[in-house]
Amino acid sequence: MIIVGLSNSRGLAKRIASHLRIEYQELYVHNFPDGEMNIRFMNDVKSKTVVLVQSLYPHPNYSLLEVLFAASTAYDLKAKKVILVCPYLAYMREDKRFNQGECISSKVVGELLSHAVEVLITIDPHLHRMHNLREVFDITVHNLSTAELIKEYIKENFNDAVVIGPDIESSNLAKRVRKDSLVFRKIRSGDYKVEIKARAKELEGRDVVILDDIVSTGRTILEAMEHLKKARSVNVIAIHGVFVGGALNQIMKKAKKIVSTNTIENETSEIDVSKLIANQLMKLK
Ligand code: R5P
Repeated sequence: MIIVGLSNSRGLAKRIASHLRIEYQELYVHNFPDGEMNIRFMNDVKSKTVVLVQSLYPHPNYSLLEVLFAASTAYDLKAKKVILVCPYLAYMREDKRFNQGECISSKVVGELLSHAVEVLITIDPHLHRMHNLREVFDITVHNLSTAELIKEYIKENFNDAVVIGPDIESSNLAKRVRKDSLVFRKIRSGDYKVEIKARAKELEGRDVVILDDIVSTGRTILEAMEHLKKARSVNVIAIHGVFVGGALNQIMKKAKKIVSTNTIENETSEIDVSKLIANQLMKLK
């Protein structure tokens, strides 16, 4: 087995390889002036199980194509098997035709990746109406959860804080991490239009952690914070720190601390998922 780091997840890929004490190689990626892509394996992959590590953020479309090129090339070079570790799996929210003629993107991405690789390992995919990734993938899928890692992080860093899920979608995670967590209500009427309903009187003077599976535009977190002005401190934990545009800066101005996992690598990704992934890969060796 060898671990191959693609553009978005090289740090994570290296950590996985070092846990497993196996070969790591970086995929060479060159972009031509016209935007076309050229990729290359720098070491031999023949007869090996090749593990591609790539989150589909940033640049979801481009990074998906990089996976497809890499997987196809690995098989062309006679790899035994290709496994994709895709800690942040983009496009899973679009699981329904909302408007006539619309593409169901989760289905298309599921089909493309199911044709490209044999096994998918992902982490806490952001699902809305879909209950199981098997609805769009017909390969083996291992869906890992960061709940235990986050529970541990909160215990070590914010043991006395109140944990809040800002909306129903985050309630499962919040309750798994802390049984007595509170869950706010959210009404979303547009990409940047979010309203949060909360009774936050009991949070006055308390340290608070807002826990969400994903922070994208940051609107959910920022609106939740509006109800927490009298808290002693407000901290934010996200599994997937997408932070579109200036979201991170806006949250940083108001939060005492903001932390995410390294499913997406950025300056907040303090909670390391490499061991979780390495443990799963050990079972597939
Ligand atoms: C909702 O489905 C999720 O749990 C997140 O709260 C949401 O996707 C965050 O998005 P944004 O940062 O754009 O408000």
